[in-house]
Amino acid sequence: MADVLKVSGLNKRFGGIVVADNIDLALAKGRVLGLIGPNGAGKTSFFNLVCGVVKPDSGSITLVGQEINGLPIRERARMGLARTWQNLRLFSSLSVLDNLMLGPRAYSADNLLDVVFRPGHVADSERESRERAFAVLERTGLAGIAHQPIRDITFGQQKLVGVARALMNDAQCLLLDEPMAGVEGQAYALIQKVVRDIAASGVAICVVEHNVAFIRDLCDEGVFMFAGKVLARGTVETLIADPQLTELYFGT
Ligand SMILES: Nc1ncnc2c1ncn2[C@@H]1O[C@H](COP(=O)(O)OP(=O)(O)O)[C@@H](O)[C@H]1O
Ligand SMILES: [Mg+2]
Repeated sequence: MADVLKVSGLNKRFGGIVVADNIDLALAKGRVLGLIGPNGAGKTSFFNLVCGVVKPDSGSITLVGQEINGLPIRERARMGLARTWQNLRLFSSLSVLDNLMLGPRAYSADNLLDVVFRPGHVADSERESRERAFAVLERTGLAGIAHQPIRDITFGQQKLVGVARALMNDAQCLLLDEPMAGVEGQAYALIQKVVRDIAASGVAICVVEHNVAFIRDLCDEGVFMFAGKVLARGTVETLIADPQLTELYFGT
């Protein structure tokens, strides 16, 4: 199966804390990989390293065969790397639609000179961004609330907006950081369905989540991370049944 994201020998430490200890990990097209491990294991740091928020000390990160380590965040996003954030980072007074249009790669005309000298180009670009946003809202079941401000929708819907915004740049690889934290009720099934649909369209997905039932139901496979190390990879069932891993998960 084709690897969309491939990380090799990734290392990072913050002073005495090792957040990535020689990580080798690959995400395959159309598959959902669950990333589990106790708080502080380095899961969010792994996402930060991959998307360029944090610089690794060493290692290689390739996206569809191209080395992206060293590229700016925006460039990685343009190449099809998308993520959501543990804390949502949405604009609460703006509509669902506007939040998407302000996401990564919102306007190609982000140059002020274009606004002055190529107003037609800016209008086209805005129209294109709006169409793209509506397509993503359809795909994530949010089209009906496109014009509602973020603060007026449920927390589960806000989480979905986070996922939708990440999809604005034609993601090939999607990293979801705790998509279920704080979510209950019908949003649970909806988020699960949306993630599955996105994978079915060929996107490689990695999900960090403490909700083990969600991970077990959703993921094709899981990896267990502890102290910056990938300790095991296998079915989520095997990982959560492993007494040594359970001890590490709950013992800290
Ligand atoms: N920018 C940073 N500077 C210093 N320490 C950090 C930074 N980011 C994360 N850490 C530390 O690295 C460890 C791993 O954090 P994190 O990746 O957020 O873990 P997880 O998401 O698995 O809970 C924690 O001890 C955290 O405090
Ligand atoms: Mg985290």
